[in-house]
Amino acid sequence: MKIVVGISGASGAIYAVSLLKALKELGIETHLVVTSMGRHVAEHECGMSINDLQGLSSYYHDNENLAAPISSGSFKVDKMVVVPCSMKTLSGVANGYSDSLLSRACDVTIKEGRKLILAVRETPLSPIHLKNMLVLSQIGVTIFPPSPGFYSHPETVEDIVLNITGKILDLLDIDNDLTVRWK
Ligand SMILES: Cc1cc2nc3c(=O)[nH]c(=O)nc-3n(C[C@H](O)[C@H](O)[C@H](O)COP(=O)(O)O)c2cc1C
Repeated sequence: MKIVVGISGASGAIYAVSLLKALKELGIETHLVVTSMGRHVAEHECGMSINDLQGLSSYYHDNENLAAPISSGSFKVDKMVVVPCSMKTLSGVANGYSDSLLSRACDVTIKEGRKLILAVRETPLSPIHLKNMLVLSQIGVTIFPPSPGFYSHPETVEDIVLNITGKILDLLDIDNDLTVRWK
């Protein structure tokens, strides 16, 4: 399985780091693209440089490189997830405005009928944000706000992050025991 992982400049870079680690441990091929604000937030929130993020991926593509393999539907990948997904990136995807590799790869994922998950993060949400989410949800994009459930009684931030990571893996149809399942 090949997965495209996009990181944009919303809060929650810790989810991206956790997902990349989990996919690496599972031996799944990842194609990583990070926006410039995605880099900034990952450094600020996690102390992770672009080289650190790159080291967790199989292949890294520059967001300015619109000629990268993942910008074409003829390059076969299975699914894509943007985590975290900013409202700006959400807007670009909802409007087909592909001015970066990340937004172009989302556009390709949609046009090829492949699974796309957007881990959207902002609060509160404006009608513009909600409208963009609705447009994408109606064409089959999975809108996944990484909002934690507390019924599993998480005790640490790591518990919360792993639970969210497990939910993303579930949505990617990847078996895992990270998420705490209701019994
Ligand atoms: C520390 C920090 C946290 C941010 N958190 C969010 C957020 O949660 N959601 C969001 O939509 N934008 C957030 N932003 C603003 C985005 O980074 C900004 O809109 C940027 O243009 C997004 O560009 P990108 O989608 O190309 O990464 C944050 C910015 C900073 C510096």
